[in-house]
Amino acid sequence: MFFLTPVLVAVICILVVWIFKNADGSIERRKGETRARAESRPWVDEDLKDNTDLHQGEEDADDWQESEEDVEHIPFSHTRYPEKEMVKRSQEFYELLNKRRSVRFISDEQVPMEVIDNVIKTAGTAPSGAHTEPWTFVVVKDLDVKHKIREIIEEEEEINYLKRMGRQWVTDLRKLRTNWIKEYLDTAPVLILIFKQVHGLAANGKRKVHYYNEISVSIACGILLAALQITKVCLEEGPFISFIIL
Ligand SMILES: Cc1cc2nc3c(=O)[nH]c(=O)nc-3n(C[C@H](O)[C@H](O)[C@H](O)COP(=O)(O)O)c2cc1C
Repeated sequence: MFFLTPVLVAVICILVVWIFKNADGSIERRKGETRARAESRPWVDEDLKDNTDLHQGEEDADDWQESEEDVEHIPFSHTRYPEKEMVKRSQEFYELLNKRRSVRFISDEQVPMEVIDNVIKTAGTAPSGAHTEPWTFVVVKDLDVKHKIREIIEEEEEINYLKRMGRQWVTDLRKLRTNWIKEYLDTAPVLILIFKQVHGLAANGKRKVHYYNEISVSIACGILLAALQITKVCLEEGPFISFIIL
C-alpha cells in the first residue's frame, strides 16, 4: 500500500498535467478558429476579390447596424403554366437570347428614354446579397461626357493591351479582332454605366456591408442584357439598341 501510493500520485499528476495541456490546446485552437472566422469575409468570392471591397479592418464595433425589421411585405404572386406552355415559353426565350451578340458597331439612332428607364428597372429586379441592391446605373447622353468616358476607357484599355493583361490575353482576343479604340462610345446615343457599391450607407450615416456585391451586380447586368434583347426584338424596324461591355 505504502509502495503503491507514490506511484499512484505520480500517475495522477501526469494525467492531470496531460488533461490541462490538452484543454489549453483546444482553447487556443478554438480561439484561432474564431479569429480566422472573424477575419474572413465568406461573402466575397475568392475569384472576385479586388482592392475595392470593404476590408474587415475598416469596420469597427461602432459600425454595427440593427436589423431592419419594419420592411414592407410585398406579396408573392406567380402564374403556373401547363407543361406544354412551359416548354414553348422556355424554347422561345432561349431562341430570343441566343440571338444576342456583343457588337462593336453601334447605330446613332435615338432611343426613347422610357425604354432606357424600363430596362434599368428590369435590371434592378435582380436578387442581391441580403437584399442590399448594391448597384448604381448611370445614363449618359451628353456628347462631351460620352467623349470623356471614351478617352478614359481607351487610355485604360491601351494599358490592358500593351502591358497589364499580358501576352496570352492579347493572343486570346486576336480572333475577335478588337483593340483599345472604341469609337462606338461616341456613336451610341446612350451609354449605361453600371457601378457596384462596395458598401452602403445606413440612415444614421454608418456604413452598411454589401454582401456579394460583385456577384449581385453581375446578375443585374445579365438581366439588363436580357431586357435589352427583348426590347430590340419588340422594336422591330425601330431604334437599334445593344449592350457594350466596357
Ligand atoms: C466580363 C466580360 C468582359 C468582356 N470584355 C470585352 C471587352 O473588353 N471588349 C470586347 O470587345 N468584348 C468584351 N466582351 C464580350 C465577349 O468578347 C463576348 O461576350 C464573347 O466573345 C462572346 O460573344 P457574344 O457575346 O456575341 O456571344 C466581354 C464579355 C464579358 C462577359
